[in-house]
Amino acid sequence: MSDAHFVDVDFNINKASCEPPLTLHQEKVLPYYTSKTHDFNLLNGDTFELLPQFNFQFDMIFADPPYFLSNNGFTIQNGKVVSVNKGDWDKGLSPKEMNDFNLRWISLCRDKLKDNGTIWISGTYHNIFSVANALTQLGFKILNVVTWAKTNPPPNVSCRYFTYSTEFIIWARKKEKVAHYYNYELMKHINGDKQMRDVWNLPAIAQWEKSCGKHPTQKPLCVLSRIIMASTKPGAWILDPFAGSSTTGIASNLLGRRYLGIEREEAFALMGRKRREEIENISTYKSFRRKIADIVKAEDTQTECFIMKEDLPVEDLPFLCDDEG
Ligand SMILES: C[S@@+](CC[C@H](N)C(=O)[O-])C[C@H]1O[C@@H](n2cnc3c(N)ncnc32)[C@H](O)[C@@H]1O
Repeated sequence: MSDAHFVDVDFNINKASCEPPLTLHQEKVLPYYTSKTHDFNLLNGDTFELLPQFNFQFDMIFADPPYFLSNNGFTIQNGKVVSVNKGDWDKGLSPKEMNDFNLRWISLCRDKLKDNGTIWISGTYHNIFSVANALTQLGFKILNVVTWAKTNPPPNVSCRYFTYSTEFIIWARKKEKVAHYYNYELMKHINGDKQMRDVWNLPAIAQWEKSCGKHPTQKPLCVLSRIIMASTKPGAWILDPFAGSSTTGIASNLLGRRYLGIEREEAFALMGRKRREEIENISTYKSFRRKIADIVKAEDTQTECFIMKEDLPVEDLPFLCDDEG
């Protein structure tokens, strides 16, 4: 991919001292996949084991953790009644187990966030209050709780409740007193020159986003694109500790940002890799960008919000070990 919009990074400097480039601190865990331009990196393994193994701080973290709602219920997909169960990783936990889980991974992520960095965490009522408590307990400052109102939610099967049509995405900064980045002007422009509100009317995942296989909880690129444009500058490093099919990574690269994802299931890591390879094709890359309304609107005002201008300093490599740097 040689498009001007894409992050053009020369990682060859100092390469001899950091072969392979994604050598991790201590255990030398090899990456599952690294794109040629090193702006898309995937680790296949447990986030609790891998996060403590390298020293690097990211500009932003997006996390779509297990919601723990695989409780044998049913929903409707494409007109068919299907189980809500997503996989073993999503099986219900007790409230205490869920709180412990959220506290542990958010604490590990906090160490990996720059002092002026922000974290976004998605959830439903099942887990979002536990996530909010963990954030507060760990000293984060909650900036917004975005409500993603799906414009095309699946119908409710039981007809005994309102249709579930929303997810919540908490946006928090690491430090109470350290300012964060928010591209206010761009968000306003995208919203028809009115301040962007914390209710986002965006569609659920579209068919064209599933060309490399299906992940049961894949997020749409339109949601991730808005998050990334709002809270990062071009060239930013973004971490996703529960990568799934790497929607975060694809949106990052469509917008000239860099990505590290961690995913435990190899089948999902492979899906992420295939998705990244898919956008190596420049016409696919351009057509994906054209399908994301926010990107189309942003393009006519702030083209610089997609282009990383400065060269990447070698110390920005995320996995140079202390002793190798
Ligand atoms: C909610 S999904 C993320 C979906 C993703 N946002 C996407 O768009 O494809 C959560 C993912 O976290 C993975 N996961 C769960 N526990 C994990 C762990 N301890 N370490 C790494 N990955 C984990 C699951 O395999 C699953 O793919």
